[in-house]
Amino acid sequence: MTNTTACSAEVEKKIDEILSKMTIEEKVGQMQQLAANMDAAKLDKYRKMGTIGSFLHVLGDDTQKYTDPAKKSRSGIKPIFGIDAIHGHALLKGATVFPSQLAAACTFDEELVEKMGEVTAVEVAADGLDWVFSPVLCMGRDLRWGRIDETFGEDTEVVARLGAAIIRGYQKDGLVAACAKHYIAYGEATGGRDAYDSQVTERRVREVLLKPFKAAADAGVMSVMTAYGSIDGKPLTTSRKWLTDILKTELGFNGLIVTDWDNYRALVHGQRVCEDLCEACKDGILAGNDMCMYTDEFYNAAIEAVKNGEIPMSAIDDSVRRILRMKARLGLLDGMPARKLPPRSVIGCAEHVAVNYEVAKESAVLLKNNGVLPLGDVKSVAVIGPNADDVGAQYGDWTYYSHPNPNPQATPKDEVYTLLKGVREVFGGARVTYAKGCVIEDGDCGADSDKAMDEAVACAKAADVAVVVIGDRLKYNGEGKDVAQPILRGRQIELLKRVKAVNHKVVAVLVNGKPLVLSEAEGYCDAIVETFNGGDMCGLAAARLIKGEENFGGKLPISFPCGVGSGPDYYNQYDYWHGGRYADVKHENPYPFGFGLSYSRFEYSAPVLSAGKAKRDGAVRVSVTVKNASDVDGKETVQLYFRDRVCKMLTPVRKLLDFKKVFIGAGESKTVTFDVAVADLGYYDENCVYTVDAGAFDFYVSGDGINFGHAELIVE
Ligand code: NOJ
Repeated sequence: MTNTTACSAEVEKKIDEILSKMTIEEKVGQMQQLAANMDAAKLDKYRKMGTIGSFLHVLGDDTQKYTDPAKKSRSGIKPIFGIDAIHGHALLKGATVFPSQLAAACTFDEELVEKMGEVTAVEVAADGLDWVFSPVLCMGRDLRWGRIDETFGEDTEVVARLGAAIIRGYQKDGLVAACAKHYIAYGEATGGRDAYDSQVTERRVREVLLKPFKAAADAGVMSVMTAYGSIDGKPLTTSRKWLTDILKTELGFNGLIVTDWDNYRALVHGQRVCEDLCEACKDGILAGNDMCMYTDEFYNAAIEAVKNGEIPMSAIDDSVRRILRMKARLGLLDGMPARKLPPRSVIGCAEHVAVNYEVAKESAVLLKNNGVLPLGDVKSVAVIGPNADDVGAQYGDWTYYSHPNPNPQATPKDEVYTLLKGVREVFGGARVTYAKGCVIEDGDCGADSDKAMDEAVACAKAADVAVVVIGDRLKYNGEGKDVAQPILRGRQIELLKRVKAVNHKVVAVLVNGKPLVLSEAEGYCDAIVETFNGGDMCGLAAARLIKGEENFGGKLPISFPCGVGSGPDYYNQYDYWHGGRYADVKHENPYPFGFGLSYSRFEYSAPVLSAGKAKRDGAVRVSVTVKNASDVDGKETVQLYFRDRVCKMLTPVRKLLDFKKVFIGAGESKTVTFDVAVADLGYYDENCVYTVDAGAFDFYVSGDGINFGHAELIVE
């Protein structure tokens, strides 16, 4: 696929014309993005100038007051409005709040994720905004990191494919621009400490992290955001190598690069790599950043640096051209065909709710089931736990809940399906009782803590089944919320233990931003369902799933930790040849990447190759027949992995090459095929040269990341 971000000759000519008439102040103004929640007096001053290129976190109702001065300005170029619509246009109360990216990744469904992007774009555009700072293409591997919930999980192939899918959805019909972030190695920060230095090599970046950005560029993503962090001491903001040489030149990205929040000031005051803002502007612009987010000192400092001859006009022109191209594509330049914006009535409409329900349903992952599920008709259900009725915990980060700035008076919509609301509706004929049991808090849980626990136990005792909703909450999940221990905090394990002592049917539902250590807790659960941050419809979908009105189809895009401090536990590590990893933690992961149970029972045939041998520039087809040996229709994600059996560099024990999600009716069989180009079986050597070896390759096919069928290919 080719990058489609360059514009037609006619548009380029129009941009040339505009550029030729612009003053240096107007050009640098276009490169400045300011925030709705910055110092009000300053914002007002800039807003009235009418020459600032972009604003973020302005909501639809307010756009006019920014656009009017721009229209009256000499250049008449309208500002572009960016918003953190990460899982739905969720900073706007009333808009569709989808499951988080991590939850959506559990669907392994590109079409559905694309649809999620499309719905979000429609709502963002209907609100009068232009640009979503999504998707996150960072790898979610260190569970201490607070932003795991924003990722598509731990695997390069999944992140690349779902990332490209959501970008296609966002940019469909040119409704909004997407922004792939955070470029690059941001999720690799040492110790899981947000925005910190990443100790990764270029080889590692190429092996694991770059492919999703390449896929984004190929999907025509209109913008990329520079990470806060650094790689081995070099800030990404000043890295010409990563921004210009690799992203813009090697990957052929023609769109614009916007910094993350205040990166320019951080160069001076946080990372201490520049004396002052002028130097920061010079280093940042020459590295390849086109737009500066938030740092308002950028405006004067960049103008000064250009006037002093420290930044050549050609660099400024290149950045402004990229910004104007994006505006042209969105119909924001005079004389360009304007977008047809959807009416506001589409925000949160029934059609969008239906898509949201589908994503929520497909994203729930059944981790354990000793036969207690499906519950079917029961006489009474006790809904227990700190997250059973907590909209904030269920939403996760980046909604009007966690970011009160645009919506200070936000309160939950009545329509949000928490687990409690879902169970009440779905188990309508049963007696449904509720007790919170405990809070999610480290240390002292307050004076009423014992009473709350006793109430929950009594509630569980009196019911046929206990649905215990546990996990984490916004204090321990999200940007700026890194944790040293990804665990079930407070008295949650005690709650499970005591509930289990009085009820022999305990169904745990996890509402959380990331996988948590379950080793002790799982012993007290008859079934475990992972929903992560499931958005508006999570409770309805989960209730129907546990009742058996729906079937589970979700798989884990991320591995659960074996213990606190055992990580990273991602599946595609190198072979380990020095015995067990730790003396104190059993390193057998019960819930690895690719895992997820179903009410259907799928049986796999041995995988078959179309040929036992292939040339390095050749191809081979892998086929496997999957039988649904149950009487329940179901969806299965068939996963194809490979391994280069002997290689001069270490390569992962296995690496996901492809996946397909298929529906298989009860009692039916389906043959799933994967066409593999041998060129995709390569690795980067120590000089970062991509190489495909001759020799033996192992293919593994699996539906759960634990059991694998095997076939061998000889590459000649
Ligand atoms: C900081 C975050 O790192 C980034 O993801 C977000 O888009 C910007 N701030 C804007 O809010």
